[in-house]
This record gives sequence, C-alpha cells and structure tokens, in this order.
Amino acid sequence: MEVKKSPVLEMKHITKTFGSVTANRDVSLSVYPGEIHALLGENGAGKSTLMNILTGIYAPDGGEIIYKGKHRDIHSPKDAVALGIGMVHQHFRLIPTLTVAENVFLYSGKKTFFLHRDEMEKEIRECSSQYNLQVSPEAYVWQLSVGEQQRVEIVKLLHQGAEVLILDEPSAVLTPQEAQSMFDTLRRMADSGKAVIVISHKMNEVMTNADRITVLKNGMVEDTMPASEATVARLTSAVVGERTLPQQTTEDAERGDQGRLGEEIFVMENVSALNDRGLPALKGVSLSVRAGEIFGIAGVAGNGQRELSEVIAGLRPVTEGSLTLSGKELSKASVKEHIREGIALIPEDRLQTGLVPELSFVQNVILKKSDSERYSRNGILQEKAMHADAAEYAARYDIRHGGLDLPVGLMSGGNQQKLLFAREVSGKPRLIVAAYPVRGLDIGAAESIRGILREQSRQGTAIVFISEELEEIFSMCDRIGVLCDGELMGIRAAGETDLKEIGRMMSGEREETV
Ligand SMILES: Nc1ncnc2c1ncn2[C@@H]1O[C@H](COP(=O)(O)OP(=O)(O)O)[C@@H](O)[C@H]1O
Ligand SMILES: [Mg+2]
Repeated sequence: MEVKKSPVLEMKHITKTFGSVTANRDVSLSVYPGEIHALLGENGAGKSTLMNILTGIYAPDGGEIIYKGKHRDIHSPKDAVALGIGMVHQHFRLIPTLTVAENVFLYSGKKTFFLHRDEMEKEIRECSSQYNLQVSPEAYVWQLSVGEQQRVEIVKLLHQGAEVLILDEPSAVLTPQEAQSMFDTLRRMADSGKAVIVISHKMNEVMTNADRITVLKNGMVEDTMPASEATVARLTSAVVGERTLPQQTTEDAERGDQGRLGEEIFVMENVSALNDRGLPALKGVSLSVRAGEIFGIAGVAGNGQRELSEVIAGLRPVTEGSLTLSGKELSKASVKEHIREGIALIPEDRLQTGLVPELSFVQNVILKKSDSERYSRNGILQEKAMHADAAEYAARYDIRHGGLDLPVGLMSGGNQQKLLFAREVSGKPRLIVAAYPVRGLDIGAAESIRGILREQSRQGTAIVFISEELEEIFSMCDRIGVLCDGELMGIRAAGETDLKEIGRMMSGEREETV
C-alpha cells in the first residue's frame, strides 16, 4: 500500500527583494523525498534566488524554511550542507589546478591531509559507480569538459552527504546525450530516497524527467502540478502568460536570397588544430563566409565546435592550413590582431572567456579597451564616459541589471549574454563567431540575441553561427556546414537541404559538397 510521505522540505511564503526588484514574492514550495521536482520559468523569474535562499547564500526578507519537520535558519552554505542541502550552481566552482579527488575532498570537512590519495580516489569511484557518474578522480579539473565538471560537482554534493540536491539549469551546458545521462543519474538519486530539485526553462525536458513541476513567473508561483498532468499548453501559459512569440516568417524569407550577400570575406582552407589534450580536434576544415552571410555550423556539441570558434578568434593555434579575412593571412596572428582586424567571438562559456563575473557591468563594458582614449586620459579613468556607455548599452539592448556597479555574475544568463553582444557589436566587427549563443537562455532572451545577429548580418557582418538546434540553424542561416569528429561533412544552402540530410551528416556520413 502506498504510504503518503511527508515533505522533506517546505519553503513557506518566501519573499526576497533586491533594491526595487522583487525576485521572490510569497513563494511556497514543498519537496518530497524520492522525487525530482522541476522549477520551471523564464530568465529572471526568480528560480536561482529561491534556491540561493534555501542554500543560505541570501537571507529572505520574509517567510520560513521547514526541513525535516523543523523550522530552520540557514545563514550560510555551510549551514545548508550541514543539514544535507547542497547545490550545483550554474557556474561551477571547481578549482582547475586541482584534481577531481582534491576538489571533492576540499570542502568535505574531512581531514584530507590524513587521507591517502588512493583512499580518496577509491571513495569517489564507489560513489560514482553507485549513481553511474563517470568521473576520473585523478584527472585535473582543467582537463575536463563541462559535462565532466558537472559530474564532479554532483559527486562533491553526494560526498558531503546531501539529501536534497539542487541543480541550477544543469542541462544548459550539456549536449542532448549528456543531458539524458545526467537525468538518469538524478533518477537514481531520487530512487535512493533523495530529493532532487532541478531548475530548468525547457518544457520538454521537465515533462520527460520530473515528477512534479512548479512554475515561477515574476517571482511568484504561477502553477504547480504532477508531471503527468503537465501539457505544453498549460506550461506555456504558466511560463510566458499571454505573450506571443515574435513572428519570424518575413525575415526567414530573406534568408537564402543570395543577392543580399556581399563578397567572400572570410576564408578557411584546410585548417587543422588540436584540443586541450593535444589530440586532433579540427581536421582539414575548409569554408568561406560572405559579407552579410550567416554560416551555420551544425553538429553534436564536442565535435570540434569549440576549437573551431577559438581558431577563428585567434585563441587556439592552427597546426595546418590558412585563415584569411579580406585576404589578410591570420593563421599565425595574435588574438589582439584578430580583434583589430574585426573578428569578435561570442564564446560558449560566456562567464569564462567572455565576461568576468566578479567585475561590474561598467568594468565589463570597458574590459578590452580600458586604455582607449575614451575611457582613459593621462592615466585617469573617465568614469563618466564609462557609465554613459554602459547605461546606453543597457537601454538599447534592454539589459536588466541590479546596478551598473554590481558584479555581472549576479545578472541572469540572458542579460549577461546581451551585455556581451552589446560590447562585441559596439566594436563594429566584420566577422562574428557565435558559439551556442542562446544556450541556457529563455525564449524571450534567445529571440533578442537572434535579433541582434540578424541585424548585424543585415549590416554586412559575416557570421559563423554554431548551434545544436537544427530548427534554429535552418531559420537563421544562409548556408549550413556540418561538423563531425573534427571534419566538415558537407556544406549546404539552407533552402536546398532538409533535416534528414543534415542529420545524416551529423552522424558522420560524408556528402558531396555542392
Ligand atoms: N544579487 C542580485 N542583485 C540584484 N538583483 C538580483 C540579484 N539576484 C537576482 N536579481 C534579480 O532578481 C530577479 C530574479 O533573478 P533570478 O533568481 O536569477 O532568476 P532566474 O534564476 O529565474 O533566471 C531578476 O530580475 C534578477 O535580475
Ligand atoms: Mg537562474
């Protein structure tokens, strides 16, 4: 007979404001042992704030937390961990120069110094095999992909004895395959009696993987339901309300109109490069992009996309082949020269290579040009000009922030990405490489970002657009190249191919380039 369990955790009437922004308003949430509970909502809905309150990062202005039947005051992440509540943040907090084992034991409270490396590694192997989490304890964190780093973060929580595990947008940085295996792991944890809270803005994902779904909108609970009662219609109306999606059809029609395009300005010929582990990551890639053209790179993430974007931006050495912008050879040029020639990169890890999370909005705006005349005269920073430009970006691109002098790490992902675009576009680039630019963003923010890219292409900027979402690639791009295992499987005009053909190329079938 099914026994009705009581919740392991209740948040009651939680309210939290930041200045004039109300991030959470009278939010109540119950979480049961053995369940995967999804928190769904758009960027800025208040999901991260609510979980940051639960883990002691923020103090609520009002409301109460009941954990295992008792009222609790959680003043710090340490308090939360001691109770058995742990969180994997959207941006991982691992130390790259330490090994996996060292990272796991670092905050464990256990006396690491007295433990043998072998014992630490053995403990991690046991923990990871129980939940089917593939990690190598002896690897250094800097050698790991984001998916692997995320698994280390999960192992860290399990090792700390967490019974309530919170993951903030865990699938945003993963390939679809990695995401599925991550959810399998979460299911195992729930099955072993733990409670799992997953923040997400992807409806399909939560419908497939969660037991219950709570939708936040504008800081409030809009709806909550068992996943079995969730439909796309119900979730959409809870997440976005009345708002409708922008129509794309007229702009889409312009795509493929080759007359709109200028001359070939960017050419890669037979380019090869290595990955961080010194293995071949790009193998003889040749492509060209015309002024005003959006050239899509399709493919399963991890097939050389990152290396391709870094090679184009001058961040990764080319081992073979040539790379030219308007005829100028750049394969041996420095990053600075790439920037000077007008190549802008929107990297896949916007908070590592793009923005500096600890620095303020203003400081990020001037990051690469703090020595320009506009911002610095006779060694004195021109605060007024800096703030004026930052405020102008915020207004023009509708970037929501809590203050221009606050760290950008506090802004939502969509707002961070808009800031990054505002800064890069202000340099009037001739070529933009955008790697997964809408990954992790909600529908509204994603559409703004695509809008910025389309506008740039209309002004004649050449764009290399890397994405995993085929529908997006088809609607954005003039031509599509498919990467598989570091090789370009073929290049197609978007109007002359279909999903099936691109899918075949993604799985490694080489098709004659037309
Ligand atoms: N530390 C902070 N300072 C100022 N505003 C913040 C801070 N943290 C979040 N906010 C604001 O609170 C709102 C909710 O943000 P957040 O909880 O991050 O949403 P979500 O995780 O659902 O995207 C947003 O308007 C955000 O800009
Ligand atoms: Mg968030």
